Amino acid sequence: MQDKSAAIIAVANEKGGVGKTVTAINLAAALSLKGKTVLVVDMDPQANATRGLGVDLDDLHATAYDMVCQPETVAAGDAVVQTKWKGLDLIPAHVDLAGAEVELVDVVGRENRLKQAMEPLGGVYDIVILDTPPSLSLLTVNVFACAGSVIVPCQTHPYAFDALSELFDTIEAVQGEINPDLRLSGILATMFDRRTRVSHNTLDRLRKDQRTQKFMYHTVIRSNTTIADSAEVGKPVVFYRTTSFGALDYKAFADEFLSGKP
Ligand SMILES: Nc1ncnc2c1ncn2[C@@H]1O[C@H](COP(=O)(O)OP(=O)(O)O)[C@@H](O)[C@H]1O
Ligand SMILES: [Mg+2]
Repeated sequence: MQDKSAAIIAVANEKGGVGKTVTAINLAAALSLKGKTVLVVDMDPQANATRGLGVDLDDLHATAYDMVCQPETVAAGDAVVQTKWKGLDLIPAHVDLAGAEVELVDVVGRENRLKQAMEPLGGVYDIVILDTPPSLSLLTVNVFACAGSVIVPCQTHPYAFDALSELFDTIEAVQGEINPDLRLSGILATMFDRRTRVSHNTLDRLRKDQRTQKFMYHTVIRSNTTIADSAEVGKPVVFYRTTSFGALDYKAFADEFLSGKP
């Protein structure tokens, strides 16, 4: 990581169910295992990253909503909770985050609220990972305004491939209008099932298509039921079953991510 902005990473894809949240929490977990200090910011009102990190939604005193909508009373630092794991902190989400869209609609500078809120935490963590909702909402735009780079998980499924061009347009629009420094870090193929032809075909296409080719991470996340089991118990798979495919793949991905490739 050369500069501070490069250490704020969005995990985004306008499509739902492609592995954004699983990638956000497991990359964070794998990086913390390597001794990095990591903050996950859950910017999805569905709060799956919050639950996936074992944080009880009934127990929250402040959330991402508060720091974005009430910055006068709640600073980002107030919303940070420690997870059970060393070096891994979270700013949790709650369903009320959906209301931020409506509340901020008439606010000047509405797309920079998260960026401003996060400023006091600059330099506190080695890496900040922002999980996003599955839509191009104001929340996602806030994430793109705040981030230095974007990781795009792409399910190895043909429809998922087709949806990427929309995301590329969005990133370009954000670069043009809001955050010229935003860059696409890479595309991570997820839920790869080696027994199915669609998985192989989609991976081939991602690796050959001129729009995606140079962005593909070498690591491929295999489809692994242990990942779903780990979500149920509120633990990243990296901590839940350390030798499962899911854990091994995300640890390999963390290594590749730190190497700065693709
Ligand atoms: N590699 C994988 N293998 C098996 N199941 C997965 C894998 N990655 C994600 N899942 C499951 O797929 C669902 C969607 O994943 P999630 O990360 O929540 O997607 P998103 O955040 O993009 O909506 C979840 O139930 C999750 O447990
Ligand atoms: Mg999600």
